[in-house]
Amino acid sequence: MTRRVRRLTLTASAVLAALALAFVVAQDAMMADRPEYADWTRLNPQKNFIQSAHPTAKDVYVNDIGRAAAQERSFPFPEGSELVKESIDVDSLTVTVMTAMRKVVGFDPANGDWQYGMFERMDDGSFGGMWADVGTEMHLMCVGCHTGAADTDYAFLTYTGD
Ligand code: HEC
Repeated sequence: MTRRVRRLTLTASAVLAALALAFVVAQDAMMADRPEYADWTRLNPQKNFIQSAHPTAKDVYVNDIGRAAAQERSFPFPEGSELVKESIDVDSLTVTVMTAMRKVVGFDPANGDWQYGMFERMDDGSFGGMWADVGTEMHLMCVGCHTGAADTDYAFLTYTGD
């Protein structure tokens, strides 16, 4: 290897290492951002573990900031409100997917300023996922349905297990 090639190779590996590190850091940030809702309020009166026509059951949780709005139906939800819907596999009784929405004032004023997140259980048992940016395919998909609940600030609050 000439000195120049060796230097280029070293530079390339340094760049790759930096990118890999940035990726790990970004991934950690994403994970850290997953709602920790163990002590939030469950909104459906009974846990939805009952097997029904649906292949999964759903429980919905709200954080302290959004609790009064959800329970007393006083809208809009205040900034910082978060809702999480668990999809539970009825055979193993484990949570397979969490969908979440959090109120970030100024994020998407045309659609109630909700940021939508989705986190899925991976093979190692941890959850991977992210909060979608405004205008992305995922955001538009979530908004597409939740617009149907515009009268209740984009939260369905129905707990039918759908
Ligand atoms: C096909 C329509 C549809 C799409 C697409 C959809 N939702 Fe929902 N979502 C619903 C319905 C209906 C409910 C109410 C569930 C129930 O009554 O059991 C709901 C409930 C929720 C809840 C609980 C709070 C509430 O509104 O009652 C969260 C959180 C949620 N969805 C997040 C998301 C996210 C994040 C996405 C995008 C990844 C998404 N949803 C996409 C229809 C949809």
